[in-house]
Amino acid sequence: MNNSIDTQGNIVIVDDQPNNLRVLSGILQQAGYKVRPALDGDVALKSIKSSPPDLVLLDIRMPEMDGYEVCRRLKADEQTRDIPVIFISALQDMEDKLSAFRAGGVDYLSKPFQMEEVLARVKAHLKLYRLQRDLQTIIDERTRDLRLTLESLSESQKQYAGVLEDTIQALSMTIEKRDPSTAGHQYRVSLIAVEIAQEMGTAGELIEGLRLGAMVHDIGRIYVPVDILTRPGPLSPVEFALVKTHPQVGHDIINHVHFPWPVPDMILQHHERMDGSGYPHGLKGDEILLEARIIGVADVMEAMSSHRPYRPAPGLERALAEIRRGAGSIYDADVAAACLRLFEEKGYSIPKFFE
Ligand SMILES: [Fe+2]
Repeated sequence: MNNSIDTQGNIVIVDDQPNNLRVLSGILQQAGYKVRPALDGDVALKSIKSSPPDLVLLDIRMPEMDGYEVCRRLKADEQTRDIPVIFISALQDMEDKLSAFRAGGVDYLSKPFQMEEVLARVKAHLKLYRLQRDLQTIIDERTRDLRLTLESLSESQKQYAGVLEDTIQALSMTIEKRDPSTAGHQYRVSLIAVEIAQEMGTAGELIEGLRLGAMVHDIGRIYVPVDILTRPGPLSPVEFALVKTHPQVGHDIINHVHFPWPVPDMILQHHERMDGSGYPHGLKGDEILLEARIIGVADVMEAMSSHRPYRPAPGLERALAEIRRGAGSIYDADVAAACLRLFEEKGYSIPKFFE
């Protein structure tokens, strides 16, 4: 049987007695190991550092620097700390053995040497060390691969998020270019909706979907003729019926986009009201998505604070009075309460971008 794998290995032997060095070196060299002897701790440390071996056999009692100190220095150096150290000593004292392990040794050999014992222990520790190094190499490689995969993933995720954001903004601007009187409406609704959701302590993931959904909640207005959207004065029942199609149209447009959030339903339900008085489906209470309930309140706040071609702005006070009046009946009680807290207690005001 070829046992060259078992006898491959560089071993440094440290002993202040030349005779001991000779005996040990002889045993190990005969077994096929490469051996480097050292007569004192200082020489040993330099030799080990310049060319790290696979194993160190280290005498305890030596003049100048003893074996414990040599071992401690090896263990304190990142380059040499993993190299296994087997202590050798004539002493049988239990306390010595304990000190050897405490100093970082993996094993202990007693003099006089039993050849079989020396070879068995050296072989076992070399094998263990080799396995540990192989394992470490595998772990390092896997960690590096994983890190590279994660980096490229997060890079493409960032790109995806950027494209999504740009697309949503482009969609948002498409409808507002057509009807400049509502320029910035969706953007401001989005800002208010996010503020309300944060005030409610809503989870971050929901808020991100809410932010994007709110930015396109009126996209269905693209279907409504511009002169109806911009004409001052009241609408006829037929015209109003046309305006009321915008949540469904918006839903149908966005429904082809695979969002990780229920954006199409946010759009579909943003005019639904808690008591079932909204449109298009007259949904009630929990049948309406939380995001849609939040957008509904933010929409009222923004719309009533802004001028429209067909009416002057009722103003912030009237908007807040409307939310207070409908809290718990038309509007979700928690959403309305968060909205009122924001504006009345925390001094939040609607940003004036796009004006
Ligand atoms: Fe709307």
